[in-house]
This record gives sequence, C-alpha cells and structure tokens, in this order.
Amino acid sequence: MKKTAPPATAARPWYDPRGWSLLTKSLVGAGVVVAIVALIVGLVEGLKSSSYPNYSALNYTLSRQYSGSSFFDEFDYYTATDPTDGFVQYVDSSTASELNLTYASSSRAVLRVDTSPANQTSGRKSVRITSKQTYESGLFLFDIVHTPYGCATWPALWLTDPNHWPEHGEIDVLESNNKGTQGNAMTLHTTSGCKMNGKRKETGAPTYTNCLNTANDNAGCGVTGGKATYGEEFNANGGGVYAMELRDAGIRVWMWARDEIPDDISNVSSRPDPSGWGEALADFPSTHCDISAHFTNLSIIVNIDVCGDLAGATRYYTDLYECPETCTQWAAGNGANFTNAYWEFNSFQVYQTVSASGATATAASSGTSSAGMSSSTTSPSPSPAQGQQQEGA
Ligand SMILES: *[C@@H]1O[C@H](CO)[C@@H](O)[C@H](O)[C@H]1NC(C)=O
Ligand SMILES: *[C@@H]1O[C@H](CO)[C@@H](O)[C@H](O)[C@H]1NC(C)=O
Ligand SMILES: *[C@@H]1O[C@H](CO)[C@@H](O)[C@H](O)[C@H]1NC(C)=O
Ligand SMILES: *[C@@H]1O[C@H](CO)[C@@H](O)[C@H](O)[C@H]1NC(C)=O
Ligand SMILES: *[C@@H]1O[C@H](CO)[C@@H](O)[C@H](O)[C@H]1NC(C)=O
Ligand SMILES: *[C@@H]1O[C@H](CO)[C@@H](O)[C@H](O)[C@H]1NC(C)=O
Ligand SMILES: *[C@@H]1O[C@H](CO)[C@@H](O)[C@H](O)[C@H]1NC(C)=O
Repeated sequence: MKKTAPPATAARPWYDPRGWSLLTKSLVGAGVVVAIVALIVGLVEGLKSSSYPNYSALNYTLSRQYSGSSFFDEFDYYTATDPTDGFVQYVDSSTASELNLTYASSSRAVLRVDTSPANQTSGRKSVRITSKQTYESGLFLFDIVHTPYGCATWPALWLTDPNHWPEHGEIDVLESNNKGTQGNAMTLHTTSGCKMNGKRKETGAPTYTNCLNTANDNAGCGVTGGKATYGEEFNANGGGVYAMELRDAGIRVWMWARDEIPDDISNVSSRPDPSGWGEALADFPSTHCDISAHFTNLSIIVNIDVCGDLAGATRYYTDLYECPETCTQWAAGNGANFTNAYWEFNSFQVYQTVSASGATATAASSGTSSAGMSSSTTSPSPSPAQGQQQEGA
C-alpha cells in the first residue's frame, strides 16, 4: 500500500507562506500594509514635529503710525454691550473725552477706567477702541509706558475682526486680569485646524496647544511671559516695547523693557528686522496651523473690561488675587481704587512689506464709521462671545 502523502500544510514550516490558508494570507497581507502606512505616517509626523518654518528676514517699511494728538482719530469707539459679560459701560468718543477716559497729547495716548466714586450700579465706565484699518500681515510695534492693573480689571491689547469671530482669528498680544502679577498672556483663538504642538522657539511658557475656540472653554493656545512682562513690574522702568509679527510663516511676539529696546526700533531712521532680535517671547509657527487662512481682516483693539468672564471669575478674582467682596459689588463702589487701571502709549507703528501694504491700502476703505460719531443706535450688534476668555495663571 502506498503511503498517503501528508497534507502539504503539515510539511511546511509555519513561516512558509505557501502553507498558509487564504485567511492567514489576507491577515498577514493587511498587517504588512498597516505597518507600511504606520511607518510613513510616523516619518511624516516625525518630520513635522522637528520641522520649523522659514522666518527669513522680510523688508519692512512703515505703513501706518498711531501717535500724537490724533491717536484716537484712527479708531472707532465700541459702545454696545460687552460680549464678555463685563460690569462695564463702554462709552463713545465724546463721553470719553469729557470724562478724560481717553486723552491724547503730542507725546502720548491714555485710555482709562472711570475713577469717579459714584456707585456705578449699571457698570463702571471704560473704553474699547477698534482700529478702522484692518490688517492681513505685518510687524506691529506697541510702545507702552503703562499697562493697567488692579482688582476687577481685565485689560487687553489684541487683534481680531469683531464681525467674523472666530473665523478670522484673534491674536491677544497683551492680556491680564486683576492685580496683573502673573505675567502677560499671549494667546491665539481660531476655528478648527490650528495647533501649536510642533517645534517652537520661545522664552515664554506655553499653556494649551489647541487654538480652537471651543476647546478648553475658549482658553485658546497661549504663552505666558515672566512677571516683568506685565503690570507694576513692567511699568516700573517706563514700560517698554512689544513687537508682534504676523506673516505666513507664523506669529511671534517679543518684549523689551525701556532700556533694552533694540537699535533698529529706537533709531527712527532704520528698518526693524526681527531676524536680529533673537528668540521670541512667544512663537506660534505655521507648522500645524495655516496662519494666513486663520488670521485675516484684523483690527487692533485696546480695551479695559471690568469684571466679566475672566477677571470676575471666582478662581481669579477671589482665589488667585484675593480681591474683596464680589467683583461687581466692589467695582461699583470703589472708583478710587482704579487709579492704576490705565494704558499709556507712546505710539503704535505698523510695518509691512511693500506688497502687503499695497494690498491693505485697498482694504482701508472698509472703515465705515468715524470717530466721535458712534452711538449705541448706529453701532453694529455685538459679536457672539468675544474670545478674550483666557485660562491665565
Ligand atoms: C528661507 O527663505 C529665504 C528667502 O526666500 C531663502 O533665501 C532661504 O534659503 C530659505 N532658507 C531655508 C533654510 O529654506
Ligand atoms: C527694501 O525696500 C526698499 C523700498 O521700499 C528698498 O529701497 C530697499 O532697497 C529694500 N531693501 C532690501 C534689502 O531689499
Ligand atoms: C487727562 O488725563 C491726562 C493723562 O493722564 C492728564 O495729564 C490730564 O491732566 C487730564 N486732564 C484733566 C482735565 O483731568
Ligand atoms: C540710525 O540708523 C541709520 C540708518 O541705518 C544710521 O545711519 C545711523 O547711524 C543710526 N543712528 C544711530 C544713533 O545709531
Ligand atoms: C473686515 O472688517 C471690517 C470691520 O470689522 C468689516 O466691516 C468688513 O466687513 C470685513 N471685511 C471682510 C472682507 O470680512
Ligand atoms: C451700591 O449700590 C448697590 C445696589 O444698589 C448697593 O447694594 C450697594 O450697597 C451700594 N454701595 C455703596 C458703596 O453705596
Ligand atoms: C483700595 O484703595 C485703598 C486706599 O488706597 C487701599 O488701602 C486698598 O488696599 C485698595 N484696595 C484694593 C483691593 O485695591
């Protein structure tokens, strides 16, 4: 009798694919594909996390300057209800002049909170101004003598398109609250698809990396500077200069105390060149965020809110800063305590490349209302929750 040949499978070692069943073959085939895809994704992600944008020098020329006694002429006064729930009445241009809440001379511009002792039961008077000119890109120099601070205050110097928030993005160059001793918070707020989880070159401390407005209670993606970057410590030596560069490669913020300002900024006849300034305080590279798609049509906004979603929150007002009573009770009746609640500026300057300033010249016509003419009846309706909310500290 002839021996029956053993089944082929039994004769072959396990690693010989000729002995595999169809199912095994398919499983192994799928496994190989998955492994290859994973390897490619890993390589791309690895490259992305080590990749960094090209911030090569741009040729900047001065395109606009805000200074002197006409400082406020280039801004509209916002008079509608505060979208961030502040205990505040934002006043129009003529009321602001009357109460000296905005004041400009040949050498400086001041914005302050009303310090009158009257119990301001419907909100303390303050100002919020929006530049008529909008911007797509540029190098913004803010020469600041005094930053506002004190219980109940929520000051900010920021850029956004109030009519298209968050679609057109928000860049908070300076933001603080209450006693302002925790350092300046620099933050981006965007729609989805903008993250700061790649390589960065900055001296500040990053907080969240997702810039999406609906993530983390609209905390945005932030970077916090040291204590000397805001408040009493920053003001002590006559303030200094903040520079914010907005370009396709990314957004960077630098800060210098008065006696450390680089020559290419203090020398009026030279062109500022960020490539010589060293590491930024905050760096928001374009690696995982299409900057030009997320940031467009931005106005410069300066305001001092009172209480509201950030400064009035118990964890800041009471727990962190140990301020008295509740924020609104205290802010209503203690006007004399708002004497440090003011911004003082020497000037703002906007530098752009020749092509960018040409492009924004056409956008300049977008400003419709003129300073001094705003009233609550003609003001645009407030935008939904303005993204100033911030997980500071
Ligand atoms: C960065 O861009 C500049 C100007 O386009 C170019 O000259 C330079 O070679 C680029 N550097 C790198 C590392 O790609
Ligand atoms: C920068 O632009 C100005 C004109 O706006 C020009 O005179 C100058 O040569 C340019 N500099 C460089 C380095 O390209
Ligand atoms: C208005 O404020 C400025 C800046 O603080 C100050 O110098 C000026 O004296 C004030 N004017 C009045 C009338 O109080
Ligand atoms: C200012 O800059 C100009 C042009 O770059 C230069 O000629 C001049 O020497 C500079 N002045 C000082 C005081 O550095
Ligand atoms: C740009 O912003 C201005 C002021 O907020 C607004 O009136 C205008 O409609 C905006 N333009 C675009 C194209 O979004
Ligand atoms: C201010 O007004 C509120 C509400 O009317 C009242 O509760 C509070 O006691 C007043 N504060 C002062 C200091 O008058
Ligand atoms: C309010 O002002 C008074 C008088 O200057 C001061 O003693 C007090 O500490 C201030 N309170 C707060 C919370 O700033």
